[in-house]
Amino acid sequence: MKRVAVLISGEGRNLQALLDAHDRGLLPATFVGVVSNRDGAPGLRRAAAAGVPVAVVRHGDFPDREAFDAALTLQLEAWRADWVVLAGFMRVLTPAFTTHWQGRLLNIHPSLLPRHRGLQTHQRVLQAGDREHGATVHFVSADLDGGPAIIQGRFTVSAEDDAQQLAQRVMKDVEVHIYPQAVAWCVSGDLQLMPEGTVMFRGAPLSAPLTLADLEPGF
Ligand code: GAR
Repeated sequence: MKRVAVLISGEGRNLQALLDAHDRGLLPATFVGVVSNRDGAPGLRRAAAAGVPVAVVRHGDFPDREAFDAALTLQLEAWRADWVVLAGFMRVLTPAFTTHWQGRLLNIHPSLLPRHRGLQTHQRVLQAGDREHGATVHFVSADLDGGPAIIQGRFTVSAEDDAQQLAQRVMKDVEVHIYPQAVAWCVSGDLQLMPEGTVMFRGAPLSAPLTLADLEPGF
């Protein structure tokens, strides 16, 4: 069974979706720990309630990003994590960290990458007049929000949507479905990142990200 660690900074709704999928027998992995860079992140309570070990590694306790990331790796290696899942983790990671965990490091981003990398994606979708919005699960590389995509869920933006509604729709209709599915594919060996950056799904290269239509029953 692969060992999964999750990095969070806040609410932990994606973390909860992963734990729930695991409870329902859909995610064959061991959750070895949850790290937050913030004290009191609500997601820590979700982890504790599920009996998953928690740790806080405060970014403010370190002189620079390199030292913070080294402390993260130390904790993740103490847990012997095979996979590291970023779930609302709001710190930019150093190339040393992303290289160390390459091919074993996943992120979920609230936009249809490559559109709207970075923050405030929902507002930017509205400002740009985008007709579609969604979320992307991708392998993390040193290029912020630029690593190879695995799955994207999309929906049509309606005239009534404000940024808050878009955030809710992204979470409820997309993120909590695609992230557990992507992690399940990774830990079961269905999905792999090749050294040159190609994503292989069941032995064939992915030419485009998987979609909501590819979700298996239960997700
Ligand atoms: C999610 O929408 C996630 O995609 C986003 O933060 C939210 C975290 O919610 N992540 C990023 O913006 C990463 N740059 P959660 O803590 O309730 O899962």
